[in-house]
Amino acid sequence: MNDLQLDADGRLRHFITLAGLPRATLERLLDRAEALRRDSLDGARPLDVLAGRTLINLFFEPSTRTRTSFDLAAQRLGALAINFDIERSSTVKGESLLDTVHTLEAMHVDAFVVRHKESGTPETIARNLHSRAAVLNAGDGNHAHPTQGLLDALTLHRRGADFSKLAVVICGDIRHSRVARSDVDALRTLGVRDLRLCAPPELLPDTADADFAQCTFVSTLDAAITGCDAAIMLRLQKERMEAASIPSEADYFARYGLTRTRLARAKPGCFVMHPGPINRNVEIADDVADGAQSLILEQVSNGVFARMAVLAELLSK
Ligand code: CP
Repeated sequence: MNDLQLDADGRLRHFITLAGLPRATLERLLDRAEALRRDSLDGARPLDVLAGRTLINLFFEPSTRTRTSFDLAAQRLGALAINFDIERSSTVKGESLLDTVHTLEAMHVDAFVVRHKESGTPETIARNLHSRAAVLNAGDGNHAHPTQGLLDALTLHRRGADFSKLAVVICGDIRHSRVARSDVDALRTLGVRDLRLCAPPELLPDTADADFAQCTFVSTLDAAITGCDAAIMLRLQKERMEAASIPSEADYFARYGLTRTRLARAKPGCFVMHPGPINRNVEIADDVADGAQSLILEQVSNGVFARMAVLAELLSK
């Protein structure tokens, strides 16, 4: 994929996946997000590095966090952000995805932020553009959600994590999770060695799934969370499951829900994370989701700065 997303000088052209992205690129994005956070919050100077640029949010699946934060990130850097309204567009008359993109490109657009239920859609768009527009993947099927991986790494980094010493468990619907794949890519690249995956058998990835090579599979959350520094809980993605593979919520919570009792098995102060939206008292008990160890809303805040960093990297002159 790096043939597509990096140019000959190693600069980002598109942001489709974290898989294979050089560590130096990831670290540069983390540093840039931190600098933009500082500059945004102290308000000392205007952040107009993207003045005159135009971005279109093309979301074929629902979103609260990703769409709003891309919109805010673009506007805070001085760019114009348009939220393309799929339901009121000519796609409902049958216009194809690529005809839609080419039509919008003809209006001089600098970037497309794409979310789609089919894995590979952002790549297809990037490979078929007529212009020099950048494509940013905002989540495609179960393939990748690279800005989520980046913001999760940023959240741990801002909390002082030494990636080389971190033990992290990712628990939940790993089979259908683009977040799990991008988190594994980010954390592995940044040096995390102890990465544990925990899920019911029906929500585990195929054993041959190379995305999770070198991760340790642990069958119970009680065992998987023991001694961990961070627990990343995942949403049950019912919209991507066969009816037969949906566990009962009560049974799932009993076996894989993060409760205070289970959290006590982790290291003291273990960070609790979730990409959202949460199914409360299915994936995480209320008192853990809202408790002192939860970074869930910090993840949301950091999402704006992570997306600002990617936009600045791709679009600033
Ligand atoms: N984490 C995440 O992608 O949330 P949204 O679906 O609300 O964008």
